[in-house]
Amino acid sequence: MKNSQIHFSERHAEIDLYQLQNLFNIAAFWAKGRSVEDLSIAIANSEPVVSVWDREHLIGFARANSDGIYRATIWDVVIHPEYQGNGLGIKLVETVLSHPRMQVERVYLMTTYQHAFYKKIGFQTNSTTTMVLYNQSHLDSLSCGDVQLQESLGA
Ligand SMILES: CC(C)(COP(=O)(O)OP(=O)(O)OC[C@H]1O[C@@H](n2cnc3c(N)ncnc32)[C@H](O)[C@@H]1OP(=O)(O)O)[C@@H](O)C(=O)NCCC(=O)NCCS
Repeated sequence: MKNSQIHFSERHAEIDLYQLQNLFNIAAFWAKGRSVEDLSIAIANSEPVVSVWDREHLIGFARANSDGIYRATIWDVVIHPEYQGNGLGIKLVETVLSHPRMQVERVYLMTTYQHAFYKKIGFQTNSTTTMVLYNQSHLDSLSCGDVQLQESLGA
């Protein structure tokens, strides 16, 4: 952090997809190996998208989806390991939460290891509402022919 010049941005266009891919590969176990093409789609369909920079280096990222009134979900929160522990993670999540689209009844997020971090921001554990459909992996496991066959069988 010495001699760093940190700034936060909410501009989608500013994201360098190759730096984001690299940041995820270094520090986000759930997002390793994502292609720049797919990252571009995720960013285009998210609002807000918040990035953290040290000069021209991308050192933090988070994004969210919101319906603008009832529910929003935060995704892909990450601070580069060399910059962790300096308050940037909290500021990153607070910047996401302060966006106009995040002024909703409930904000959800999924986390495997960082419950203590999010509790500091005001999130509560909520084990009762968590379910997931692994949609893409299900489709990937079927060949094109299988899908057509199942569709014709009404599956
Ligand atoms: C989680 C993460 C974003 C936190 O960023 P950070 O910049 O290190 O966090 P901060 O410095 O803002 O920490 C703020 C506070 O949370 C605490 N904190 C941070 N990570 C914590 C953790 N894993 N467990 C408990 N407390 C934690 C800090 O000690 C600090 O407490 P303090 O205010 O009492 O000093 C960062 O560690 C990270 O990118 N981790 C890898 C990716 C990841 O797991 N992301 C979350 C996916 S859901």
